[in-house]
Amino acid sequence: MTRFDPSGPLRGDLRPPPDKSISHRAALIGTMTEGTVEVTGYLDSADTRSTLDAVRALGGQVEDVGPSDGPGGIDLHITGIGLRGPGERFDATREAVAVDVGNAGTLLRLLPGWLAGQGTGAWVLDGDDSIRRRPVDRVAEPLREMGAKVECRDGRLPPLELIGASLRGISYRMPIASAQVKSCVLLAGLLAEGDTQVTEPAPTRDHTERLLAAWGADVSTEELRTLPTLGGGPVRRITIRRAERLTGAVVQVPGDFSSAAFMLVGATIVEGSRVRIAGVGLNPTRIGLLGILHRMGAAIEVDEHPESVEASGAILARHGPLEATRVHGEEVPLAIDELPLVALLGCFAEGTTVVSGAEELRHKESDRIATVVDGLAALGADIEATEDGFAVTGAGGLRGGSLDAQRDHRLAMLGAIAGLASREGVDVAGMDAAAVSYPGFEADLRALI
Ligand code: S3P
Repeated sequence: MTRFDPSGPLRGDLRPPPDKSISHRAALIGTMTEGTVEVTGYLDSADTRSTLDAVRALGGQVEDVGPSDGPGGIDLHITGIGLRGPGERFDATREAVAVDVGNAGTLLRLLPGWLAGQGTGAWVLDGDDSIRRRPVDRVAEPLREMGAKVECRDGRLPPLELIGASLRGISYRMPIASAQVKSCVLLAGLLAEGDTQVTEPAPTRDHTERLLAAWGADVSTEELRTLPTLGGGPVRRITIRRAERLTGAVVQVPGDFSSAAFMLVGATIVEGSRVRIAGVGLNPTRIGLLGILHRMGAAIEVDEHPESVEASGAILARHGPLEATRVHGEEVPLAIDELPLVALLGCFAEGTTVVSGAEELRHKESDRIATVVDGLAALGADIEATEDGFAVTGAGGLRGGSLDAQRDHRLAMLGAIAGLASREGVDVAGMDAAAVSYPGFEADLRALI
């Protein structure tokens, strides 16, 4: 158990660890290039180490150049094997190559897109107990439509077996708004005959498109229609063409907004707080929480630097009164990993905060509708689960108690922030789960107290 007592104000400056989503992509797409790419500030966490292990299992080289400038990162040189490298290097006299994805859902969903389109070769992707509960039919289905040979357990769960095949481009309308599925299909599109198109039901994070475009892929995005009132962005269709090669150079990974979000929300709900977070990624497809906080009346200021491949900047958060808000499905993907924090904010807001259209939360590292609602209810929250979200009524804060992280990193960090803002403190069981995305979380948090 790790104890988080009610705290005085959170004050000070912080740089969050590097972005997890961009780190996974930098390593994977870096391995698709021919030559060596420099990754500055690669997240040094359990999940992103799984991706480096996968890169090595496929024949890529990873050189650790040392700690990066900011906290929680390392600088890497990744020497790629080329877009068609996994197939070319496959030893047909041996069994399928085993890839252990650990706990990394992003790796589990992105890598099949690259492997499925190798004309030859065989791979099996598997991971820990939690990964074995994460659905992969969402990527198997579009890949099969493209001509891939994919098998999964009970038709929907890992292990996922792939045999390299020739793919053809498809036009795929995603039934769920998932950046992981979109990325998988786009990576497969690099190897497929003809154009591949993916239409999103609501905007999702676009790190894959940005990095592929920067490294020479022919990828373009059209905005189809705008959802005017619900807080989401335009629905988009992304088109990618077959590529012969990718030419990578340098990626600078900004700080992870999803990690910074815990400190932002902590500063918003702990009385007297003022926290400035610098060097944080501000990609518009990641910062839905800022719009939600704005509607809740939170005192947040953003200072954005001129954009390179990925926008970044600083955020200043101060404590203040909050009003309830509604978060609809269109906005959900832009704040998907921050919705547990919206539940916590709702405990401190005037009125009832309702999140709907967030059924996807049930398929994260834990069933985050159940674990967040049960976890916060046990701490005294007036919160109820719905099929696709939750409703939480502010009751002037939280009492406290204990919360089991259920091996979900974001639940562990939620418990810690809840503890600081509570009246009686919170004991978190399984705090070490935080290291999946934010290894220095506890030290960073305690430094602000
Ligand atoms: C991620 C996309 C999101 C998010 C996950 C990381 C990514 O999942 O929840 O933590 O890096 O693409 P989905 O877009 O599949 O919901």
